[in-house]
Amino acid sequence: MVEMARWILRNNDRGGYTVPARGLYPFQWLWDSGFTALGWATFDPERAWLELRTLFRGQWLNGFLPHIVFHSEDPGYFPGPEIWGVDHQPQTTGLTQPPFLAPVVLHLLQRDPDRPRALREARYLYPRLLALHTFLHRYRDPEGTGLVGVLHPWETGMDNSPAWDVPLARVPEGPLPPFQRRDLVHVPGEQRPREEDYRRYLYLVLAYRSRGYDPETCYREAPFLVADIGFNAILLYADEALARLAEILGEESKQPLAWLHRGLAAIEALWNEKAGLYHSLDLRLGVPIPQDTSAGFLPLLLPLPRPRVLKMRKALGRFAQGTTYLLPSVPPHDPAFEPRRYWRGPVWPPVNYLLALGLRRHGLLDEASQLEADFVALVEQAGFREYFNPLTGEGLGGKEFSWTAALYLALLD
Ligand code: DGY
Repeated sequence: MVEMARWILRNNDRGGYTVPARGLYPFQWLWDSGFTALGWATFDPERAWLELRTLFRGQWLNGFLPHIVFHSEDPGYFPGPEIWGVDHQPQTTGLTQPPFLAPVVLHLLQRDPDRPRALREARYLYPRLLALHTFLHRYRDPEGTGLVGVLHPWETGMDNSPAWDVPLARVPEGPLPPFQRRDLVHVPGEQRPREEDYRRYLYLVLAYRSRGYDPETCYREAPFLVADIGFNAILLYADEALARLAEILGEESKQPLAWLHRGLAAIEALWNEKAGLYHSLDLRLGVPIPQDTSAGFLPLLLPLPRPRVLKMRKALGRFAQGTTYLLPSVPPHDPAFEPRRYWRGPVWPPVNYLLALGLRRHGLLDEASQLEADFVALVEQAGFREYFNPLTGEGLGGKEFSWTAALYLALLD
């Protein structure tokens, strides 16, 4: 299995970057690259660093880091660079994704046996990471509340999570130019977002394109604006890693620590005592989105009051009821639960990986081991798939998937 996982990374390597999956996702994706680098690090640290260097070739002058870098052409994906119309070389999208990068850089720095190389690479990446975090805290939280907003479900990485149903319903389905989805060529439709979701995804892209991707205008006029608990938890975890990197590299850690402390105070407003986990916030209406999803556990990555942690342990039990494998992205008793449809039920490797990290941080070792063991069991019986049915263990979505292979390697390491 380890050989197979390494083979998948090599086979998905396009020379400096790793495609998440051949055919379905033929470019470089932001958060996939962070997870993939963790896998490369287990057998080829130099290649792990290169993954991140290559990703930052897509960074804009204002610090923004796009969620896809189109290093080469591929007509097999929609929406490609011609739909985004971004003026950058290499071509990119105009949306971002959860910034799970500073923790990866910290991890690589700590484990690379070649210390001079590791320091050189970390010094190259540090100012780029700082620019990205500065962009997010400045332009996605213009009033300095401590919560950053996302402008599109794609920015959450959890595209069709039921948490976005209500805010997304306010986004028109058109008018749109005629278009053809390409994802359905690779994966059966019942495992992917629905048609009406896609129409709104595209409407939003064109709305931001027509505003020239200007960060202030887009935030102010965004038809979809949400403080995603997953994105915010990952950003704060990354702020903490950035502060640690600053200390190691002899840089100033005051700013990342200030972001972290402000954010920790702000996410408390997203705690839901009855659910025993965190919810996202609809920033357009200023109301919480009362939908339990696996993202609501991601604040476990952060320092938290003990009562919160113990409540979340209970909530995990609720997600486990009636499932064979942890962690379903939506609890099985929820009316929105669909065990095979993308982010509406399936188990996702990066969530198990991140939550295991968080649970360990808080000393919940049995729960952490369970999430890791379930992930390993799923891969060993169903292969290196994109996501898995939590009831049956069936493998779903893309095949020979990079983040699954990489996180398998990282967990066994
Ligand atoms: C897709 O194409 O499905 C991606 O999730 C968008 O980034």
